[in-house]
Amino acid sequence: MSRHSTEIEGSRWLRIGGRIRAPLLLRELPRMVAFGCLERLLPLTERIDLGLEFHRIAHDRAIEMVHSARAVAEAELARGAGASTAAMEAVGASSAELAGRIARREQELWKVGIRFVPVDPTRTGAEQLRAGLERRLGELGFRARVPTHEVREALGPYDLSGIEARPLGYWHTLPTDGLAAFYPLGDEGVLERGGILLGLTLGEAAPVVVDRWSHSSYSWGIFGTTGAGKSFAAALMALRSRWQTEGLRTVILDPLGEFGGFAEALGGTVIRLGADARVRLNPLDPVTTGGDRKEKAGRVGAILRALWPSLLDEETAALDAAVSRLYERGPEVPTMGDLVDLVAADPKAPPRLAGLLEVFRSGSLAAVDGPTTLDPQAEVLTVDFRGIPENHLPVHLAYVLDWTYGLLRDAPGPKLAVVDEAHLLARHPATAEFLDRVVRHVRHFEGGFLLLSQSPDDFLRHESGRAILRNLRATLLLRLSPVSGAVAEFYGLTSGEADWLPRARLPVEAGYSEGLLRLGEAHLPIALICTTPELDFLTGALGARGPVPAAAATRPDGL
Ligand SMILES: Nc1ncnc2c1ncn2[C@@H]1O[C@H](COP(=O)(O)OP(=O)(O)OP(=O)(O)O)[C@@H](O)[C@H]1O
Ligand SMILES: [Mg+2]
Repeated sequence: MSRHSTEIEGSRWLRIGGRIRAPLLLRELPRMVAFGCLERLLPLTERIDLGLEFHRIAHDRAIEMVHSARAVAEAELARGAGASTAAMEAVGASSAELAGRIARREQELWKVGIRFVPVDPTRTGAEQLRAGLERRLGELGFRARVPTHEVREALGPYDLSGIEARPLGYWHTLPTDGLAAFYPLGDEGVLERGGILLGLTLGEAAPVVVDRWSHSSYSWGIFGTTGAGKSFAAALMALRSRWQTEGLRTVILDPLGEFGGFAEALGGTVIRLGADARVRLNPLDPVTTGGDRKEKAGRVGAILRALWPSLLDEETAALDAAVSRLYERGPEVPTMGDLVDLVAADPKAPPRLAGLLEVFRSGSLAAVDGPTTLDPQAEVLTVDFRGIPENHLPVHLAYVLDWTYGLLRDAPGPKLAVVDEAHLLARHPATAEFLDRVVRHVRHFEGGFLLLSQSPDDFLRHESGRAILRNLRATLLLRLSPVSGAVAEFYGLTSGEADWLPRARLPVEAGYSEGLLRLGEAHLPIALICTTPELDFLTGALGARGPVPAAAATRPDGL
Protein backbone atom coordinates (compact mmCIF):
# COMPACT_ATOMS: atom_id res chain seq x y z
CA MET A 1 0.00 0.00 0.00
CA SER A 2 1.32 3.44 -0.82
CA ARG A 3 1.95 5.78 2.06
CA HIS A 4 -0.64 8.27 0.87
CA SER A 5 -3.42 5.77 0.62
CA THR A 6 -3.28 5.29 4.43
CA GLU A 7 -3.03 8.97 5.33
CA ILE A 8 -6.09 10.88 6.51
CA GLU A 9 -5.79 14.51 7.54
CA GLY A 10 -7.95 16.21 10.15
CA SER A 11 -7.72 19.88 11.01
CA ARG A 12 -5.62 19.15 14.13
CA TRP A 13 -4.17 15.68 13.47
CA LEU A 14 -2.92 13.31 10.84
CA ARG A 15 -3.66 9.60 10.68
CA ILE A 16 -0.83 7.55 9.20
CA GLY A 17 -1.54 3.83 9.10
CA GLY A 18 -3.16 2.94 12.39
CA ARG A 19 -1.78 5.90 14.34
CA ILE A 20 -2.98 9.40 14.98
CA ARG A 21 -0.30 12.10 15.19
CA ALA A 22 -1.32 15.27 17.01
CA PRO A 23 1.51 17.82 16.70
CA LEU A 24 2.19 20.59 19.17
CA LEU A 25 4.49 23.57 18.59
CA LEU A 26 5.82 26.30 20.86
CA ARG A 27 4.45 29.79 20.41
CA GLU A 28 6.62 31.23 23.17
CA LEU A 29 9.56 29.97 25.20
CA PRO A 30 10.18 30.97 28.81
CA ARG A 31 13.11 33.31 29.46
CA MET A 32 14.87 30.55 31.34
CA VAL A 33 14.77 26.91 30.36
CA ALA A 34 16.11 24.46 32.94
CA PHE A 35 18.68 21.96 31.69
CA GLY A 36 17.15 18.58 31.00
CA CYS A 37 13.64 20.07 30.99
CA LEU A 38 12.51 17.55 28.39
CA GLU A 39 12.87 14.86 30.99
CA ARG A 40 10.05 16.51 32.90
CA LEU A 41 7.94 17.12 29.81
CA LEU A 42 8.08 13.71 28.23
CA PRO A 43 7.22 10.90 30.63
CA LEU A 44 8.55 7.53 29.60
CA THR A 45 5.11 6.04 29.89
CA GLU A 46 3.68 8.14 27.03
CA ARG A 47 4.46 8.01 23.34
CA ILE A 48 5.36 11.53 22.42
CA ASP A 49 7.86 11.88 19.58
CA LEU A 50 10.15 14.84 19.72
CA GLY A 51 11.52 16.40 16.54
CA LEU A 52 14.49 18.66 17.07
CA GLU A 53 16.64 20.12 14.27
CA PHE A 54 19.20 22.87 14.61
CA HIS A 55 21.19 24.94 12.17
CA ARG A 56 24.05 27.18 13.16
CA ILE A 57 23.64 30.81 12.19
CA ALA A 58 26.80 32.36 10.73
CA HIS A 59 28.71 34.57 13.16
CA ASP A 60 28.17 37.92 11.36
CA ARG A 61 24.52 37.22 10.79
CA ALA A 62 24.12 36.25 14.47
CA ILE A 63 25.63 39.55 15.64
CA GLU A 64 23.37 41.42 13.25
CA MET A 65 20.29 39.57 14.55
CA VAL A 66 21.04 40.25 18.19
CA HIS A 67 21.66 43.93 17.48
CA SER A 68 18.44 44.27 15.59
CA ALA A 69 16.52 42.50 18.39
CA ARG A 70 18.02 45.03 20.75
CA ALA A 71 17.14 47.92 18.47
CA VAL A 72 13.53 46.74 18.26
CA ALA A 73 13.35 46.49 22.05
CA GLU A 74 14.81 49.96 22.46
CA ALA A 75 12.43 51.43 19.88
CA GLU A 76 9.50 49.81 21.68
CA LEU A 77 10.74 51.24 24.94
CA ALA A 78 11.13 54.69 23.42
CA ARG A 79 7.53 54.50 22.20
CA GLY A 80 6.49 53.61 25.76
CA ALA A 81 5.53 50.00 25.43
CA GLY A 82 3.14 50.19 28.39
CA ALA A 83 2.58 46.98 30.26
CA SER A 84 5.35 45.20 28.40
CA THR A 85 8.00 47.77 29.31
CA ALA A 86 9.66 45.52 31.85
CA ALA A 87 9.75 42.67 29.36
CA MET A 88 11.27 44.92 26.71
CA GLU A 89 13.92 46.18 29.11
CA ALA A 90 14.76 42.59 29.87
CA VAL A 91 15.06 41.76 26.18
CA GLY A 92 17.25 44.82 25.65
CA ALA A 93 19.51 43.96 28.56
CA SER A 94 19.82 40.29 27.73
CA SER A 95 20.48 40.95 24.05
CA ALA A 96 23.25 43.37 25.01
CA GLU A 97 24.86 40.68 27.13
CA LEU A 98 24.31 38.05 24.46
CA ALA A 99 25.82 40.27 21.77
CA GLY A 100 28.97 40.50 23.90
CA ARG A 101 29.15 36.76 24.39
CA ILE A 102 28.64 36.09 20.69
CA ALA A 103 31.29 38.64 19.80
CA ARG A 104 33.68 36.83 22.18
CA ARG A 105 32.58 33.56 20.56
CA GLU A 106 31.43 32.14 23.88
CA GLN A 107 27.98 31.56 22.44
CA GLU A 108 26.54 31.00 19.01
CA LEU A 109 23.05 31.47 17.64
CA TRP A 110 21.03 28.56 16.31
CA LYS A 111 17.93 28.27 14.24
CA VAL A 112 16.08 25.52 16.01
CA GLY A 113 13.04 23.60 14.79
CA ILE A 114 11.00 21.98 17.56
CA ARG A 115 7.89 19.84 17.33
CA PHE A 116 6.26 17.49 19.78
CA VAL A 117 4.15 14.73 18.30
CA PRO A 118 1.90 12.71 20.61
CA VAL A 119 1.08 9.41 18.89
CA ASP A 120 -1.84 7.16 19.75
CA PRO A 121 -4.13 4.68 17.98
CA THR A 122 -7.17 6.81 18.79
CA ARG A 123 -7.97 10.45 18.22
CA THR A 124 -9.10 10.95 21.82
CA GLY A 125 -5.96 9.25 23.08
CA ALA A 126 -3.71 11.49 21.00
CA GLU A 127 -5.68 14.60 22.04
CA GLN A 128 -5.35 13.60 25.68
CA LEU A 129 -1.60 13.16 25.36
CA ARG A 130 -1.39 16.55 23.67
CA ALA A 131 -3.53 18.25 26.35
CA GLY A 132 -1.34 16.75 29.09
CA LEU A 133 1.82 17.90 27.35
CA GLU A 134 0.38 21.38 26.81
CA ARG A 135 -0.37 21.60 30.52
CA ARG A 136 3.15 20.52 31.51
CA LEU A 137 4.64 22.99 29.05
CA GLY A 138 2.52 25.73 30.59
CA GLU A 139 3.81 24.82 34.04
CA LEU A 140 7.37 25.32 32.85
CA GLY A 141 6.54 28.71 31.33
CA PHE A 142 6.11 27.70 27.66
CA ARG A 143 3.14 28.73 25.55
CA ALA A 144 2.18 25.93 23.24
CA ARG A 145 0.34 26.12 19.93
CA VAL A 146 -1.70 23.51 18.04
CA PRO A 147 -1.05 23.97 14.29
CA THR A 148 -4.66 23.93 13.11
CA HIS A 149 -5.08 23.28 9.33
CA GLU A 150 -1.25 23.15 9.13
CA VAL A 151 -0.72 19.64 10.40
CA ARG A 152 1.02 18.38 7.26
CA GLU A 153 3.41 21.34 7.23
CA ALA A 154 4.21 20.77 10.88
CA LEU A 155 4.82 17.05 10.39
CA GLY A 156 6.57 17.21 7.02
CA PRO A 157 9.99 15.57 6.62
CA TYR A 158 13.20 17.50 7.30
CA ASP A 159 14.88 18.82 4.15
CA LEU A 160 18.06 19.67 6.11
CA SER A 161 18.24 23.18 4.63
CA GLY A 162 16.67 24.76 7.66
CA ILE A 163 14.79 27.18 5.43
CA GLU A 164 11.64 25.25 4.57
CA ALA A 165 8.32 26.88 5.44
CA ARG A 166 6.85 25.63 8.67
CA PRO A 167 3.87 26.77 10.73
CA LEU A 168 4.23 29.50 13.31
CA GLY A 169 5.81 28.09 16.46
CA TYR A 170 8.11 25.62 14.71
CA TRP A 171 11.25 27.75 14.25
CA HIS A 172 13.03 29.44 17.12
CA THR A 173 16.31 31.27 17.54
CA LEU A 174 18.33 30.13 20.54
CA PRO A 175 21.83 30.72 21.86
CA THR A 176 24.00 27.68 22.54
CA ASP A 177 22.97 27.50 26.23
CA GLY A 178 19.30 27.58 25.32
CA LEU A 179 19.79 24.81 22.78
CA ALA A 180 21.73 22.75 25.32
CA ALA A 181 18.82 23.03 27.75
CA PHE A 182 16.62 21.46 25.08
CA TYR A 183 18.99 18.72 24.27
CA PRO A 184 17.21 15.46 25.06
CA LEU A 185 20.37 13.74 26.23
CA GLY A 186 20.79 16.17 29.13
CA ASP A 187 20.20 13.34 31.55
CA GLU A 188 23.66 12.64 32.87
CA GLY A 189 22.71 11.31 36.24
CA VAL A 190 24.58 12.66 39.23
CA LEU A 191 28.09 11.71 40.20
CA GLU A 192 29.23 13.09 43.52
CA ARG A 193 32.70 11.85 44.35
CA GLY A 194 32.82 9.57 47.39
CA GLY A 195 29.05 9.09 47.38
CA ILE A 196 26.90 5.98 47.26
CA LEU A 197 24.89 4.67 44.32
CA LEU A 198 21.22 5.51 44.84
CA GLY A 199 19.93 4.15 41.57
CA LEU A 200 19.87 4.53 37.80
CA THR A 201 17.90 7.20 35.98
CA LEU A 202 14.88 5.73 34.25
CA GLY A 203 15.61 7.62 31.04
CA GLU A 204 19.12 6.42 30.34
CA ALA A 205 20.21 4.22 33.18
CA ALA A 206 22.76 6.88 34.14
CA PRO A 207 24.07 6.26 37.67
CA VAL A 208 23.02 8.55 40.47
CA VAL A 209 25.77 8.70 43.06
CA VAL A 210 25.18 11.03 45.99
CA ASP A 211 27.48 11.96 48.83
CA ARG A 212 25.50 12.57 52.00
CA TRP A 213 28.43 14.26 53.72
CA SER A 214 29.13 16.88 51.09
CA HIS A 215 25.97 18.95 51.65
CA SER A 216 24.82 21.25 54.41
CA SER A 217 22.18 18.76 55.61
CA TYR A 218 23.14 15.12 55.98
CA SER A 219 19.54 13.99 56.30
CA TRP A 220 17.40 12.29 53.66
CA GLY A 221 13.80 11.08 53.45
CA ILE A 222 12.06 8.16 51.77
CA PHE A 223 8.31 8.21 51.23
CA GLY A 224 6.08 5.62 49.64
CA THR A 225 3.00 3.54 50.03
CA THR A 226 3.18 0.22 51.84
CA GLY A 227 5.28 -2.27 49.88
CA ALA A 228 6.96 0.52 47.87
CA GLY A 229 10.36 -0.51 49.17
CA LYS A 230 11.15 2.10 51.84
CA SER A 231 12.66 -0.25 54.41
CA PHE A 232 14.62 -2.06 51.73
CA ALA A 233 15.91 1.22 50.29
CA ALA A 234 16.91 2.44 53.75
CA ALA A 235 18.77 -0.78 54.53
CA LEU A 236 20.48 -0.67 51.12
CA MET A 237 21.57 2.92 51.67
CA ALA A 238 22.80 2.10 55.18
CA LEU A 239 24.72 -0.88 53.81
CA ARG A 240 26.35 1.13 51.04
CA SER A 241 27.08 4.03 53.40
CA ARG A 242 28.84 1.60 55.73
CA TRP A 243 31.02 0.35 52.91
CA GLN A 244 31.87 3.90 52.05
CA THR A 245 32.43 5.10 55.62
CA GLU A 246 34.09 2.40 57.65
CA GLY A 247 32.81 2.11 61.20
CA LEU A 248 29.75 4.26 60.48
CA ARG A 249 27.72 4.22 63.68
CA THR A 250 24.15 3.30 62.70
CA VAL A 251 21.05 3.52 64.89
CA ILE A 252 17.68 2.31 63.60
CA LEU A 253 14.37 3.19 65.25
CA ASP A 254 12.29 0.31 64.06
CA PRO A 255 8.63 0.40 65.20
CA LEU A 256 7.66 -2.69 63.20
CA GLY A 257 10.71 -4.75 64.05
CA GLU A 258 11.87 -5.21 60.44
CA PHE A 259 15.56 -4.39 60.88
CA GLY A 260 16.54 -6.76 63.69
CA GLY A 261 17.97 -9.38 61.34
CA PHE A 262 19.80 -6.66 59.43
CA ALA A 263 21.52 -5.36 62.56
CA GLU A 264 22.41 -8.87 63.70
CA ALA A 265 23.79 -9.82 60.28
CA LEU A 266 26.13 -6.82 60.57
CA GLY A 267 27.25 -7.88 64.03
CA GLY A 268 25.05 -5.31 65.74
CA THR A 269 22.63 -5.33 68.65
CA VAL A 270 18.85 -5.35 68.83
CA ILE A 271 17.19 -3.60 71.77
CA ARG A 272 13.61 -4.76 72.33
CA LEU A 273 11.43 -2.27 74.14
CA GLY A 274 8.12 -4.12 73.75
CA ALA A 275 6.23 -6.21 76.27
CA ASP A 276 9.17 -8.59 76.86
CA ALA A 277 11.74 -5.78 77.27
CA ARG A 278 14.76 -6.76 79.33
CA VAL A 279 16.45 -3.39 79.18
CA ARG A 280 15.32 0.07 80.12
CA LEU A 281 16.04 3.53 78.82
CA ASN A 282 15.14 6.15 81.39
CA PRO A 283 13.32 8.91 79.47
CA LEU A 284 14.33 11.43 82.17
CA ASP A 285 18.09 10.79 82.18
CA PRO A 286 19.77 14.16 81.46
CA VAL A 287 22.71 12.38 79.85
CA THR A 288 20.92 12.81 76.49
CA THR A 289 21.42 16.58 76.64
CA GLY A 290 24.95 16.28 77.95
CA GLY A 291 23.74 17.31 81.40
CA ASP A 292 21.87 20.43 80.19
CA ARG A 293 18.92 20.14 82.58
CA LYS A 294 16.92 23.04 81.17
CA GLU A 295 17.07 21.67 77.64
CA LYS A 296 16.19 18.25 79.00
CA ALA A 297 13.11 19.64 80.77
CA GLY A 298 11.89 21.08 77.45
CA ARG A 299 12.33 17.76 75.69
CA VAL A 300 10.57 15.81 78.42
CA GLY A 301 7.61 18.18 78.12
CA ALA A 302 7.39 17.46 74.36
CA ILE A 303 7.69 13.71 74.93
CA LEU A 304 4.87 13.65 77.48
CA ARG A 305 2.62 15.82 75.35
CA ALA A 306 2.91 13.14 72.64
CA LEU A 307 1.32 10.69 75.06
CA TRP A 308 -1.62 12.93 75.95
CA PRO A 309 -2.34 15.10 72.92
CA SER A 310 -5.59 16.29 74.47
CA LEU A 311 -4.15 17.75 77.68
CA LEU A 312 -5.88 20.95 78.71
CA ASP A 313 -3.82 24.12 78.77
CA GLU A 314 -3.70 24.29 82.57
CA GLU A 315 -2.67 20.62 82.73
CA THR A 316 0.13 21.23 80.22
CA ALA A 317 1.28 24.26 82.19
CA ALA A 318 1.26 22.31 85.46
CA LEU A 319 3.13 19.42 83.86
CA ASP A 320 5.79 21.70 82.40
CA ALA A 321 6.18 23.43 85.76
CA ALA A 322 6.57 20.08 87.55
CA VAL A 323 9.16 18.89 85.02
CA SER A 324 11.15 22.13 85.41
CA ARG A 325 11.07 21.82 89.19
CA LEU A 326 12.23 18.22 88.94
CA TYR A 327 15.34 19.25 87.02
CA GLU A 328 15.99 22.30 89.22
CA ARG A 329 15.69 20.59 92.58
CA GLY A 330 15.26 16.86 91.99
CA PRO A 331 17.82 14.04 92.03
CA GLU A 332 20.75 14.14 89.66
CA VAL A 333 19.16 11.48 87.48
CA PRO A 334 15.41 11.63 88.05
CA THR A 335 13.08 8.78 87.17
CA MET A 336 9.45 8.77 86.17
CA GLY A 337 8.49 7.78 89.73
CA ASP A 338 10.08 11.01 90.99
CA LEU A 339 7.93 13.02 88.61
CA VAL A 340 4.78 11.16 89.65
CA ASP A 341 5.58 11.85 93.32
CA LEU A 342 6.24 15.51 92.68
CA VAL A 343 2.89 16.04 90.98
CA ALA A 344 1.03 13.94 93.55
CA ALA A 345 2.49 16.04 96.37
CA ASP A 346 1.48 19.34 94.76
CA PRO A 347 -1.94 20.38 96.03
CA LYS A 348 -2.27 22.94 93.24
CA ALA A 349 -1.75 20.42 90.38
CA PRO A 350 -4.94 19.62 88.42
CA PRO A 351 -6.22 16.33 89.91
CA ARG A 352 -6.47 14.55 86.55
CA LEU A 353 -2.73 15.07 85.90
CA ALA A 354 -1.62 12.94 88.85
CA GLY A 355 -4.02 10.24 87.65
CA LEU A 356 -2.61 10.31 84.13
CA LEU A 357 0.99 10.13 85.34
CA GLU A 358 0.20 7.08 87.45
CA VAL A 359 0.57 5.05 84.23
CA PHE A 360 4.34 5.38 84.70
CA ARG A 361 4.27 3.82 88.15
CA SER A 362 1.59 1.20 88.17
CA GLY A 363 0.18 1.27 84.62
CA SER A 364 1.28 0.05 81.22
CA LEU A 365 4.31 2.37 81.07
CA ALA A 366 5.79 1.29 84.40
CA ALA A 367 8.60 -0.47 82.52
CA VAL A 368 10.25 2.90 81.80
CA ASP A 369 10.32 3.91 85.49
CA GLY A 370 13.87 3.46 86.71
CA PRO A 371 17.44 4.09 85.67
CA THR A 372 18.84 3.20 82.25
CA THR A 373 20.21 -0.33 82.19
CA LEU A 374 21.94 -0.21 78.84
CA ASP A 375 25.33 0.87 77.61
CA PRO A 376 25.24 0.38 73.87
CA GLN A 377 28.62 -0.09 72.27
CA ALA A 378 27.52 -1.80 69.06
CA GLU A 379 28.26 -0.09 65.80
CA VAL A 380 24.83 -1.03 64.46
CA LEU A 381 21.96 -0.77 66.85
CA THR A 382 18.28 -1.40 66.22
CA VAL A 383 15.54 -0.46 68.63
CA ASP A 384 12.57 -2.78 68.11
CA PHE A 385 9.23 -1.42 69.33
CA ARG A 386 7.09 -4.43 68.47
CA GLY A 387 4.50 -5.23 71.10
CA ILE A 388 4.10 -1.63 72.19
CA PRO A 389 0.47 -0.55 71.80
CA GLU A 390 0.04 1.88 68.93
CA ASN A 391 -1.06 4.75 71.15
CA HIS A 392 2.16 4.47 73.17
CA LEU A 393 4.43 4.37 70.12
CA PRO A 394 4.87 8.15 69.74
CA VAL A 395 6.05 8.58 73.34
CA HIS A 396 8.45 5.63 73.12
CA LEU A 397 9.78 6.84 69.79
CA ALA A 398 10.20 10.34 71.19
CA TYR A 399 12.34 9.42 74.19
CA VAL A 400 14.34 6.93 72.13
CA LEU A 401 14.90 9.74 69.61
CA ASP A 402 16.18 11.90 72.46
CA TRP A 403 18.45 9.06 73.58
CA THR A 404 19.64 8.55 69.98
CA TYR A 405 20.45 12.22 69.78
CA GLY A 406 22.70 11.88 72.82
CA LEU A 407 24.35 8.82 71.31
CA LEU A 408 25.01 10.56 67.99
CA ARG A 409 26.40 13.60 69.77
CA ASP A 410 28.82 11.61 71.91
CA ALA A 411 30.13 9.14 69.30
CA PRO A 412 33.03 10.35 67.17
CA GLY A 413 32.92 10.37 63.36
CA PRO A 414 29.96 10.27 60.98
CA LYS A 415 26.74 8.67 62.17
CA LEU A 416 23.49 7.61 60.58
CA ALA A 417 20.08 7.30 62.24
CA VAL A 418 17.14 5.67 60.49
CA VAL A 419 13.61 6.40 61.72
CA ASP A 420 10.99 4.12 60.17
CA GLU A 421 7.30 5.06 60.45
CA ALA A 422 8.40 8.65 61.10
CA HIS A 423 4.80 9.84 60.74
CA LEU A 424 4.30 8.65 64.33
CA LEU A 425 6.50 11.56 65.36
CA ALA A 426 5.49 13.99 62.61
CA ARG A 427 1.77 13.93 63.30
CA HIS A 428 1.86 15.54 66.71
CA PRO A 429 3.14 19.14 66.72
CA ALA A 430 5.15 18.64 69.93
CA THR A 431 7.10 15.62 68.68
CA ALA A 432 7.37 17.08 65.17
CA GLU A 433 8.98 20.15 66.63
CA PHE A 434 11.36 17.94 68.58
CA LEU A 435 12.23 15.88 65.50
CA ASP A 436 12.79 19.08 63.55
CA ARG A 437 15.24 20.32 66.20
CA VAL A 438 17.05 17.00 66.28
CA VAL A 439 17.37 16.77 62.48
CA ARG A 440 18.66 20.33 62.40
CA HIS A 441 21.20 19.85 65.18
CA VAL A 442 22.70 16.45 64.45
CA ARG A 443 24.62 17.75 61.50
CA HIS A 444 26.78 19.76 63.91
CA PHE A 445 28.26 16.48 65.05
CA GLU A 446 28.33 14.67 61.72
CA GLY A 447 24.96 12.97 62.16
CA GLY A 448 22.47 12.34 59.37
CA PHE A 449 18.92 11.06 59.54
CA LEU A 450 17.04 8.87 57.14
CA LEU A 451 13.32 9.38 57.72
CA LEU A 452 10.86 6.84 56.34
CA SER A 453 7.14 7.39 56.08
CA GLN A 454 4.23 6.54 53.86
CA SER A 455 3.34 10.05 52.81
CA PRO A 456 4.81 13.53 53.14
CA ASP A 457 1.26 14.71 53.96
CA ASP A 458 1.74 13.81 57.62
CA PHE A 459 4.61 16.31 57.70
CA LEU A 460 2.88 19.04 55.75
CA ARG A 461 0.12 19.61 58.29
CA HIS A 462 2.13 21.97 60.48
CA GLU A 463 5.17 24.20 60.26
CA SER A 464 7.61 21.94 62.14
CA GLY A 465 6.81 19.07 59.81
CA ARG A 466 7.37 21.28 56.78
CA ALA A 467 10.65 22.47 58.26
CA ILE A 468 11.75 18.85 58.64
CA LEU A 469 11.02 18.17 54.95
CA ARG A 470 12.85 21.32 53.89
CA ASN A 471 15.90 20.15 55.80
CA LEU A 472 16.17 16.86 53.93
CA ARG A 473 18.85 17.18 51.29
CA ALA A 474 17.59 14.18 49.30
CA THR A 475 14.01 12.99 49.17
CA LEU A 476 13.06 9.78 47.45
CA LEU A 477 9.39 9.65 46.53
CA LEU A 478 8.56 6.04 45.75
CA ARG A 479 5.03 5.12 44.70
CA LEU A 480 2.66 7.57 46.34
CA SER A 481 -1.05 7.07 46.06
CA PRO A 482 -2.52 9.48 45.93
CA VAL A 483 -0.28 12.50 45.40
CA SER A 484 -2.11 15.27 47.23
CA GLY A 485 -2.18 18.82 45.96
CA ALA A 486 -0.18 19.82 49.03
CA VAL A 487 2.61 17.35 48.19
CA ALA A 488 2.67 18.38 44.51
CA GLU A 489 2.90 22.02 45.50
CA PHE A 490 5.49 21.54 48.24
CA TYR A 491 7.86 19.61 45.97
CA GLY A 492 7.04 21.60 42.83
CA LEU A 493 5.95 18.46 40.98
CA THR A 494 4.81 18.88 37.40
CA SER A 495 1.44 17.33 36.62
CA GLY A 496 3.34 14.65 34.67
CA GLU A 497 5.35 13.75 37.78
CA ALA A 498 2.25 13.83 39.98
CA ASP A 499 0.41 11.59 37.50
CA TRP A 500 3.32 9.19 37.32
CA LEU A 501 4.06 8.72 41.04
CA PRO A 502 0.92 6.63 41.74
CA ARG A 503 2.03 4.41 38.84
CA ALA A 504 5.73 4.18 39.76
CA ARG A 505 6.44 0.47 39.74
CA LEU A 506 6.57 -1.51 42.95
CA PRO A 507 9.28 -4.08 43.68
CA VAL A 508 6.66 -6.80 43.49
CA GLU A 509 5.95 -5.76 39.88
CA ALA A 510 9.39 -4.80 38.62
CA GLY A 511 11.86 -6.58 40.89
CA TYR A 512 13.12 -3.13 41.97
CA SER A 513 11.41 0.06 43.02
CA GLU A 514 10.90 3.19 40.96
CA GLY A 515 10.67 6.68 42.34
CA LEU A 516 11.39 10.33 41.91
CA LEU A 517 14.57 11.47 43.58
CA ARG A 518 14.51 15.08 44.62
CA LEU A 519 18.01 16.30 45.11
CA GLY A 520 18.03 19.96 45.99
CA GLU A 521 15.95 21.40 43.16
CA ALA A 522 16.60 18.59 40.68
CA HIS A 523 14.00 15.90 40.00
CA LEU A 524 15.30 12.56 38.75
CA PRO A 525 13.09 9.57 38.07
CA ILE A 526 15.20 6.61 39.16
CA ALA A 527 15.17 2.86 39.54
CA LEU A 528 16.48 1.60 42.83
CA ILE A 529 18.44 -1.42 41.80
CA CYS A 530 20.92 -3.55 43.67
CA THR A 531 23.40 -6.28 42.95
CA THR A 532 22.56 -9.95 43.47
CA PRO A 533 24.69 -10.24 46.64
CA GLU A 534 23.00 -7.13 48.07
CA LEU A 535 19.58 -8.53 47.21
CA ASP A 536 20.40 -11.89 48.80
CA PHE A 537 21.76 -10.25 51.90
CA LEU A 538 18.87 -7.83 52.33
CA THR A 539 16.03 -10.23 51.58
CA GLY A 540 17.58 -12.67 54.06
CA ALA A 541 18.13 -10.05 56.75
CA LEU A 542 15.05 -7.83 56.53
CA GLY A 543 11.52 -8.54 57.71
CA ALA A 544 9.80 -9.08 61.03
CA ARG A 545 11.42 -11.96 62.90
CA GLY A 546 10.05 -14.20 65.60
CA PRO A 547 6.60 -14.00 67.12
CA VAL A 548 5.13 -10.52 67.30
CA PRO A 549 3.92 -9.92 70.83
CA ALA A 550 0.23 -9.05 70.70
CA ALA A 551 -0.23 -5.31 70.87
CA ALA A 552 -2.99 -4.61 73.35
CA ALA A 553 -5.54 -2.30 71.79
CA THR A 554 -5.69 0.16 74.63
CA ARG A 555 -6.84 3.73 74.65
CA PRO A 556 -4.35 6.33 75.84
CA ASP A 557 -4.12 5.66 79.53
CA GLY A 558 -6.64 7.47 81.59
CA LEU A 559 -8.16 9.41 78.67
N1 LIG B 1 14.86 -2.17 45.31
C1 LIG B 1 14.39 -3.41 45.55
N2 LIG B 1 14.86 -4.47 44.87
C2 LIG B 1 14.36 -5.70 45.12
N3 LIG B 1 13.39 -5.98 46.02
C3 LIG B 1 12.89 -4.98 46.73
C4 LIG B 1 13.36 -3.64 46.53
N4 LIG B 1 12.68 -2.83 47.36
C5 LIG B 1 11.84 -3.62 48.05
N5 LIG B 1 11.95 -4.90 47.68
C6 LIG B 1 11.13 -6.00 48.22
O1 LIG B 1 9.78 -5.57 48.20
C7 LIG B 1 9.09 -5.87 49.41
C8 LIG B 1 8.52 -4.61 50.04
O2 LIG B 1 9.58 -3.75 50.41
P1 LIG B 1 9.63 -3.00 51.80
O3 LIG B 1 9.27 -3.88 52.92
O4 LIG B 1 10.94 -2.32 51.86
O5 LIG B 1 8.46 -1.94 51.59
P2 LIG B 1 8.02 -0.76 52.56
O6 LIG B 1 7.82 0.44 51.72
O7 LIG B 1 8.96 -0.63 53.69
O8 LIG B 1 6.60 -1.25 53.07
P3 LIG B 1 5.88 -0.97 54.49
O9 LIG B 1 5.31 0.42 54.43
O10 LIG B 1 4.79 -1.99 54.50
O11 LIG B 1 6.88 -1.13 55.58
C9 LIG B 1 10.09 -6.60 50.28
O12 LIG B 1 9.86 -7.98 50.15
C10 LIG B 1 11.44 -6.23 49.70
O13 LIG B 1 12.38 -7.27 49.86
MG1 LIG C 1 8.80 -0.82 55.77
